[in-house]
Amino acid sequence: MKKKQKNFEKFHSQLDLPFLETDNEFIKEIFQTLEFEFGLKSNSKQKLIDLGVGNGTIVIFSALNHNIKSYGIEINQKLINEAKIRIKSLKKEGNYKKKLFKKIKIKQGDFYLLNLKFYDFIYIYSLPTMQRYLKHVFNTAKKNAVIISFKYQLKNFNSIFTLQKRLILNKNKKEFSTFFYKKIS
Ligand SMILES: C[S@@+](CC[C@H](N)C(=O)[O-])C[C@H]1O[C@@H](n2cnc3c(N)ncnc32)[C@H](O)[C@@H]1O
Repeated sequence: MKKKQKNFEKFHSQLDLPFLETDNEFIKEIFQTLEFEFGLKSNSKQKLIDLGVGNGTIVIFSALNHNIKSYGIEINQKLINEAKIRIKSLKKEGNYKKKLFKKIKIKQGDFYLLNLKFYDFIYIYSLPTMQRYLKHVFNTAKKNAVIISFKYQLKNFNSIFTLQKRLILNKNKKEFSTFFYKKIS
């Protein structure tokens, strides 16, 4: 099989992998790092996007705990439906002000087609095989935008990002890293 064809099939097969979400235990620390070291300001006009939002974990946390506009794009409609059900039931529970839920926007789409120029914080939890084709998308991010990559280091993007921090978190004696980058220009 030709190399290009093989790469394409490998890439496509990623979409059939079981869904994984960022562990709730880690999210608080990731956002604390954003707040204390990367200028995240609660109740501000800052914007965050999660590329491949899954069932909404990151954007729900960001909107409800930091009150910033929190966008998610996701290719799988089933996961979007799941996210909407979670949001509805959180609303019903009544522990958060209703207006905070308005900060969450999730839409169906393909992150390879995005323009990231509006976002201050760009979150991604995705396999390196998928990340490597994202250069044209990351290129659209604004100067000093913060890119957060859970678990996997973003490789071969040295010309557009600088690695600022590696946060190591532990669970069940296993280490999980989160990588924080800044867009160069
Ligand atoms: C590992 S999950 C991470 C979910 C969520 N960001 C989190 O951290 O909890 C990656 C997600 O990316 C989605 N995805 C994969 N390719 C995509 C694409 N081209 N456009 C949009 N979403 C995509 C998958 O369906 C999956 O929900």
